This record gives sequence, C-alpha cells and structure tokens, in this order.
Amino acid sequence: MTSTPNSLFRHYLNSLIQRGTTRASLTEEARDVLRTWYVTAKKGSRAHSPSSPSSPSPRPEPQPTKTPPPSTNPELFPEERKPSSSITLPEGTMEDKLQYLRDLAQNWKPARDLNSLRDTMVFATGNPHTQLMLIGEAPGYYEEVQREPFVGRAGEKLNQILKAMGLSRDMVYISNIVKFRPSLPNQRTNNRAPTPEEIEACLPIIMHEIQVIQPKMIIALGGTAAVGLLGEQGSVSSMRGRFHDLNGIPVRVTYHPSYLLRSDNPREKRKVWEDMLAVMERMGMPVSEKQRGYFLPRE
Ligand code: URA
Repeated sequence: MTSTPNSLFRHYLNSLIQRGTTRASLTEEARDVLRTWYVTAKKGSRAHSPSSPSSPSPRPEPQPTKTPPPSTNPELFPEERKPSSSITLPEGTMEDKLQYLRDLAQNWKPARDLNSLRDTMVFATGNPHTQLMLIGEAPGYYEEVQREPFVGRAGEKLNQILKAMGLSRDMVYISNIVKFRPSLPNQRTNNRAPTPEEIEACLPIIMHEIQVIQPKMIIALGGTAAVGLLGEQGSVSSMRGRFHDLNGIPVRVTYHPSYLLRSDNPREKRKVWEDMLAVMERMGMPVSEKQRGYFLPRE
C-alpha cells in the first residue's frame, strides 16, 4: 500500500491514541489542513453513497489539496443553507421569532440524535436589531457555564476587536454555528471543534437566525463558521481578504479570536484588523486615521 501524507498522519495520530494521548495541540494552519481533509473525505464518501448521506462507510483516501480554489460547493449542506427546511417561523416580532428558534434549538433532534454534543444549549447574545452579525464555532467550557457565546478568553479577545471598531457586544449580534459544546470523554475544561455532522445538524438554526436578523454584514470567525456557512472548501487564509455572498448578505471570513490568543505576531493581528477595516468601510462606518494604522508593523 502506498503511504500518502494523509495515511502517515492518520497512522501517527493512531499511535498517539494507542499510547493513551487524548489531547494534541495544533496550530491554526494544522487545523485548517485537517478541516480541508475532513471536508474532502466527507464529500468523497457522499459521492460514493448518495442514498445514505451520513453513513459512516469507509471513506476514500482524500487527496491532499494544494490551495483549493474557493468555489461554492453545492453538495455541502445544500438545503439547510437556504433558510427553508422544516422550520416555519411564527408571526410576530423579531424577539418572538428568536425565542421560537431558541426553544427549538434546545431540543433540536438532528443535533440531539448525534449523541456527540453536550446537553446545555447556548444560543446567542447581543442586539437582534443590529446590522452586524458575528458567527463563531461552538460554545466552550465558559460559554456552557454562562450559557452565552464568547465569554471565555476568546470572548475577551473578541470584545477587544469590537472595541477597536468602536463597537460593543450589545451593538452586534453574536452567535455560533453549533449550539452545544462538542463532547469529549472525561471532559473538563477542554474543548474540541465540531465535526461536519454536528455543523450540518445545527445549520438550519443559524440560517434561520440570519433570516430573522437580516444583518447587513456577517463576520465568520474562523474556519468552522466559514466552511459551514458558505459551503466552501478551504482554509481561513484562502477565504479571507474578500467578501463572500450568503443569500445576498456579504460575509467576511477572518481568523478565530482564539488564533490571536495563540499567536502574538502583530502581522496576524493586522490581518484580522484589515478584515475588520474592510467590514467597517463596506458598512459605511467612520474609520479614523488612528484606526487605519492599528497593528501596522513598526518601521
Ligand atoms: N469559540 C467560539 O467559536 N464560540 C464561542 O462561543 C466561544 C469560543
């Protein structure tokens, strides 16, 4: 059998598991590569078993992609991305509709049936009458305890980013693509990223939140949110730097705030900041000269 980088990597991970390792730290780039492989593998397995889209049958070896062209992939979550599916929003105010979605999410069968997500539902926070919606990955330990998205260290970083933009949490709407904390054996404060199945299961809820809020702009925080919302394959690096379209709403992809917690490099901070400047400009927000210069490398 030929060894591909993918099979070697899998072999390495299996050997770690056999030695009892339950955690491994990954750089954002490594997470991007894994995410791309996973999505490619999932696509391949779907193409081979069209009658059972989520069957766990053996997956064909995914081909390591070089720089995948960021094209819309209609095979990924095709129905859920259009806010139709089986959810019928009630008549009433925006608050009524969001309360309906919140109640629905609590016992959302497609997610509960997976048995891989924890029980506490974390919905959203902020101002539903806003023009700007920020979407992250899934709640972590602190979010689960407080039942509010982005209240841990990544949340502190997000608050700083918003402050630099002249905004605060109560001026925007903050949500997650997955509404439950992904579970792990013997889990304490450790978190894991949601799987494509978990994202797919929760997608109708966030798509309906978008339909209710009707923001002028969405910021996808990190690769999980970006890939899930847009159905595009690729890393954050390949998806950021331009506006995408989600049912007529511009979406800006940027690095997850937790990436900035891991990387102290001002260049990376500047990349996120340039995404925020682009959002501010597109939304017609005032941008001062001082703001334009944030995180520029010193001469
Ligand atoms: N990371 C996320 O993506 N969402 C949260 O709510 C917290 C951390």
